[in-house]
Amino acid sequence: MTTDQIREARSALAGGGPLVVLSGAGMSAESGVPTFRDAQTGLWERYDPTELATPEAWRRDPDTAWAWYRWREHLVSGARPNAGHLAVARAAAARDVVVVTQNVDDLHERAGSPVVHHLHGSLFAHRCDSCSTPMEVGPPPEQAVDRLAPPLCACGGRARPGVVWFGEMLPSGPWEAAVSAIELAAAVLVVGTSGLVHPAASLPDLAAGAGIPVVEVNPGPSGLGPTVTVHVRATAGEAVPALLD
Ligand code: APR
Repeated sequence: MTTDQIREARSALAGGGPLVVLSGAGMSAESGVPTFRDAQTGLWERYDPTELATPEAWRRDPDTAWAWYRWREHLVSGARPNAGHLAVARAAAARDVVVVTQNVDDLHERAGSPVVHHLHGSLFAHRCDSCSTPMEVGPPPEQAVDRLAPPLCACGGRARPGVVWFGEMLPSGPWEAAVSAIELAAAVLVVGTSGLVHPAASLPDLAAGAGIPVVEVNPGPSGLGPTVTVHVRATAGEAVPALLD
């Protein structure tokens, strides 16, 4: 993170107009929640999330997928918002801030951000895989297990996580809210996403196409390419407070 990058990025974000923060897994990395496509640890080392997170994987082997999602719930429940989440929440005291996240954790909410749209659903909103009725499933196991049978719904279906799997539609409410927020934004801050998963990855392009400055925080290469006005090469916990406080 160079001082030039910080200066340029602060200037692109200045002015106090509505800000959209678009976050991906890198936002929560410093809270101890592993990303999807960086070097993997724990359960992520043994399973390829892009293979588990599909309707086909669920149909083939629901017990393995359920165990993996319940383990992620346990992990996220024990994690705490990091300096990046907290700086985003503080910024909302001074200007309109809409958080649009691909993350299925609740760390933006727990940091205190008042408006959070979850494009890919939530780990904690279980529903029946057959009739879609919301289901209460109790706390997740304390220990990782390889397989766990999902509880059954009264209709005979199984409880499934309320997340969006590859090949599934995004929930329309959060998506429409995200597009409207970008249309009204004075600036967009993109934090910790590889920019590979659509349609979320198209939101920065939408902003750039409307002439809205796009600042990206990512210690790795930009996932977004030429639509980015300034790329700050640093982690969320380092850069977001430096940009927004
Ligand atoms: N701070 C900021 N960025 C970071 C940090 C950090 N501490 N650590 C890693 N990153 C960056 C990586 O360089 C990478 O570009 O975060 C990005 C994480 O990329 P992915 O793991 O692909 O996460 P994401 O873009 O959110 O994935 C999109 O894919 O599997 C799905 O549905 C899942 O929502 C997810 C979607």
